[in-house]
Amino acid sequence: MQTSIRPDEYCSPEVLTAEQRSVLRRVWTFIGLRRDLEKHLDYVTRDIAGVPIVVQNFDGTLHAFENVCSHRFSRIQCDPRGNRPLQCRYHGWTYNSEGLPYGIPERPRFDDLTPERLQSLRLTRWQLASTGQMLFVAPTELTISLEDFLGEAGPQVAAWSSALGTEVDRSESVIECNWKTLVENTLEAYHVPLVHPKTFDWMDAKRGVCRIEGVHSSFTGGVDEKLANRFRKVESLFRGRPVSIDGYAHQLVFPNVTLATTWGATFSLQVFEPLGPASTRFTTTVYLTRTEGESPRADFLEMFGKSVAEGNRAIFEEDRVACERVQSVAGIARSAGILSDEEVRVGAFHQAYRSFRDAESGDSP
Ligand code: FES
Ligand SMILES: [Fe+2]
Repeated sequence: MQTSIRPDEYCSPEVLTAEQRSVLRRVWTFIGLRRDLEKHLDYVTRDIAGVPIVVQNFDGTLHAFENVCSHRFSRIQCDPRGNRPLQCRYHGWTYNSEGLPYGIPERPRFDDLTPERLQSLRLTRWQLASTGQMLFVAPTELTISLEDFLGEAGPQVAAWSSALGTEVDRSESVIECNWKTLVENTLEAYHVPLVHPKTFDWMDAKRGVCRIEGVHSSFTGGVDEKLANRFRKVESLFRGRPVSIDGYAHQLVFPNVTLATTWGATFSLQVFEPLGPASTRFTTTVYLTRTEGESPRADFLEMFGKSVAEGNRAIFEEDRVACERVQSVAGIARSAGILSDEEVRVGAFHQAYRSFRDAESGDSP
């Protein structure tokens, strides 16, 4: 099978602009977890396809808006998550749950703030929907529902995200690489022997099963006996966990969000957010599973989670080096690459990407 994303599509500013329009703004995009938005005025933010978005709790109801002040266009909420009014930090305009500015310092000094004018200064709304713990946003023009967009991948995404327990690690970094190279890197284990000879050698990809789920895909793989035996010794501590998996599993939510779990005991959630043609913000969060009731060994579980997080950080550092090497020669190759049957999920990612790009002039992806 040949690759169908061209070499020049990994390094050009024009391509990034085109894919923001034709891919990244034509999907539902993960923005945060419901549990981070439980209280009045809790908010999360993320830049999606170059558009800053905020989701905020107003008296128990969540609303999504473009995070750009209507006065003179400052970013309104500046942290990834927090709790404060939807108030611009520049001159203090405050917005309500309809996105209307209702608190305007020194209002009489504006001579044309009629009710009609205020309506025109309303923040631009985005659609908001959730599955399990995961909240997704989309521009209002998108006509497909979240459920239809997730399709076959939906039940697993709902189940895994509902199982997330204590957050044990969160890291954010900027990788000098195109976002697609990083996503593709998570979709195959062909690179594991050379890139991760010590850190990821416990994963038995030969026993792996790949599933293509429309534009999404998943993988379930075995782990070696040594690690399996180690887990069996502590498995009783995770009894009652909502998701039980034999070994390692990975899910892509097209185009740039991945979830992974080992035994349903720990989970990691990654987001690859393009900042430029050769620059990607990478956010990864590690969670322990939810368990029933208080665990008698909470201290051990936290230690377990931290050691998983350390392992993940080491693996991602190795992937960063490999992917930046790819980026350092991006655009040079003249013909299509070639994919093994181990790389079937990379092939599916390429085809999904192509279908969105090629549908740019049509009505739907
Ligand atoms: S730019 Fe937001 S209040 Fe002025
Ligand atoms: Fe890797």
